[in-house]
Amino acid sequence: MNKALNVLQQEVDKRRTFAIISHPDAGKTTLTEKLLLFGGAIRLAGSVKARKASKHATSDWMEIEKQRGISVTSSVMQFDYKGHRINILDTPGHQDFSEDTYRTLTAADSAVMLIDVAKGVEPQTIKLFQVCAKRGIPIFTFINKLDREGRSPFELMEELENVLGIRSVPMNWPIGMGRELSGVYDRMKNQVELFQGDDHSTIQVKKVDGYEDKVIGEIAGEYLHDQLCQDLELLDVAGDPFDYDKVMRGELTPVFFGSAVNNFGVQTFLENFLELAPKPEPRRSTAGLVEPTDEKFSGYVFKIQANMNPAHRDRIAFLRIVSGKFERGMTVKHVRAGKDIKLAQPQQFLAQDRDIVNEAYPGDIIGLFDPGIFRIGDSLSEKSEIVFDELPTFSPEIFAKVSIKNALKSKQFQKGIDQLTEEGMIQVFRTVSFDDILLGVVGQLQFEVFEYRMKGEYGVDVQLQRMPYQFARWIVMDKVDPSKFRINSVLVKDKKENYVVLFENEYAMRTAMEKLPEAKFLETAP
Ligand code: G4P
Repeated sequence: MNKALNVLQQEVDKRRTFAIISHPDAGKTTLTEKLLLFGGAIRLAGSVKARKASKHATSDWMEIEKQRGISVTSSVMQFDYKGHRINILDTPGHQDFSEDTYRTLTAADSAVMLIDVAKGVEPQTIKLFQVCAKRGIPIFTFINKLDREGRSPFELMEELENVLGIRSVPMNWPIGMGRELSGVYDRMKNQVELFQGDDHSTIQVKKVDGYEDKVIGEIAGEYLHDQLCQDLELLDVAGDPFDYDKVMRGELTPVFFGSAVNNFGVQTFLENFLELAPKPEPRRSTAGLVEPTDEKFSGYVFKIQANMNPAHRDRIAFLRIVSGKFERGMTVKHVRAGKDIKLAQPQQFLAQDRDIVNEAYPGDIIGLFDPGIFRIGDSLSEKSEIVFDELPTFSPEIFAKVSIKNALKSKQFQKGIDQLTEEGMIQVFRTVSFDDILLGVVGQLQFEVFEYRMKGEYGVDVQLQRMPYQFARWIVMDKVDPSKFRINSVLVKDKKENYVVLFENEYAMRTAMEKLPEAKFLETAP
């Protein structure tokens, strides 16, 4: 093996790129911050939180982001820990997430699903889980806030199975909960992690001789030890055994219990996760599977963030590196545009600081300065014409009729809609009967950003009127009859002239499906 290839292999082996998926308030900000601290990124302490609380003084976040104190589009954080290089893809924790959130998940090789011990599986977790499950990536679960009274671990495991359809294998098990929490038992390493002191401020790790070891009872008390033994006996008999292949296929989720705010169970989780989580995975392309260790550099754009710097109105295209080594200043093929471009000003993202990056490897995310030449899904590659598989689109769930306030601006209006659709910011439809323009999104925030950008970048004031539809289905049949879609639904066309039906509720959708058995109803464009 030549030296360059050897280095590439080592760099790939040490990387882990993942996203944390959760419902707002489960503790994602807190957990992210603790992970960054383990990586020695001390200067970041408080910065993740500060960004969320909108306390940051940097001027280059979108106005809207500052006003609302949320991260409009996801960013990337990188840190090193015990020989690993870790990339965390941040997904907005606010309820107003967008299609970008979903697309960001396509750049992750695994996901960490964070669940509040008292609340269990919540709506936003379900949505994000489903996107990960479709890709079949490994999903690791961290059940948080163990220092509070919560639901029983068995009940939560049942919920994972019933609501998400995934089996689980607890890697550790709580000893008590809430006020009684005295520690966790590590099932894999046969050791206990114990809280000590009245304020639980110190953590002691002790090797034991199985969960029945009397030492546990001496420290945690007989009652909690008995409970632990009963639970673990039951798990040993009736629970799923750990199966690495099933974990890798996303059929079994390893579960860890802990408390992010107390830093309890976080380090064990991180270490186990790094051991088990996959390194950068190959991606499918026109040239077959592209392996990370292919020497030629390649990658694809999964997100474009506009207006990070309102003064310059520049955009950043986020690129996931798939293969080879990236070097600043290198020339690559922009396959769709059919031209060579020089990657001169790449940036890496570390919380809100941005550094110029000189080299990067598969699994890393780099931000490319974009004067308007990139689209979501674009492939870049060195000396070849690789095109990666198209990124998935997602079925819109919220709709609004859009109109222009000043008819004289209709040309800019059209241009704005075309460009923002192309960028993947919104999906656009026209009603068959009245030629109204409807926008479809997955999160309310996308409408706000749309309005903001139409005004800021195209000088157009738009009016948005929410429509009652909740589901979009692309309809495939010989002859589409608009009169069939009048009750609680509307027939529209997408920008490629495909027929789509928007339904107000599930009942209307089911009725239409029953009435038209010959038609196919697809969640996304065919
Ligand atoms: P998010 O990014 O998922 O939205 O959640 P975030 O980390 O902001 O956490 C939401 C709230 O839950 C915060 O409280 C945070 O301190 C708390 N929290 C996180 N992890 C734990 C935990 O392990 N145990 C307990 N008891 N609480 C936890 P807050 O009151 O909203 O904010 P703060 O004033 O405490 O910062």
